[in-house]
Amino acid sequence: MSEHLTIVDHPLVQHKLTLMREKNTSTAVFRQLLREISQLLAYEVTRGLPMTTKKIETPMTEMDAPTLDGKKLALISILRAGNGLLDGVLELIPSARVGFVGLYRDEETLQPVQYYFKVPDALEDRLVIAVDPMLATGNSSVAAIDLLKKAGAKNIRFLCLLAAPEGVATMRAAHPDVPIVTAALDEKLNEVGYIMPGLGDAGDRMFGTK
Ligand code: URA
Repeated sequence: MSEHLTIVDHPLVQHKLTLMREKNTSTAVFRQLLREISQLLAYEVTRGLPMTTKKIETPMTEMDAPTLDGKKLALISILRAGNGLLDGVLELIPSARVGFVGLYRDEETLQPVQYYFKVPDALEDRLVIAVDPMLATGNSSVAAIDLLKKAGAKNIRFLCLLAAPEGVATMRAAHPDVPIVTAALDEKLNEVGYIMPGLGDAGDRMFGTK
């Protein structure tokens, strides 16, 4: 993947995203749309995966057929909203290994602090896809990717649903080697770090909390 930022402008993605943005969309529908859209985004974020061939027999003849090469890829959910994207991606890539990174923001320093970290082994040999629906300030995404690199990851992609220009810039400055795939690049962040026009708090909307 050569572009730093890929916006998936497929009509189905854009249509589903509009439904998700609407404030009256229910939790159940929001969750279902997120599952569907994350499969479509997974299709894009896995573009260009290394391939090999293997000999198979069709009912007609033998052939050298294309198959994915290398170690199983690692999906890393950035808690908690990342779990909403994870489900759909896993449906498309059921054999992927899964990890979780939990970070919270220290109210005094405003810096992300790790509270949970559990990832698959041999990260250095896997394509690692970190998932978090909202790339807002980018601070927690940068911190999560710092941790993944410290754990050995070398080939990382970042998948989100919405990105703010501020978050993309922060990620580009800290991790220019990590391509970002998103359904939309919104206008800006508001004064409390929410994406505008956005869709509100992604975690609250997918889990029905407030
Ligand atoms: N996280 C969210 O859930 N929503 C935003 O708009 C920004 C960060």
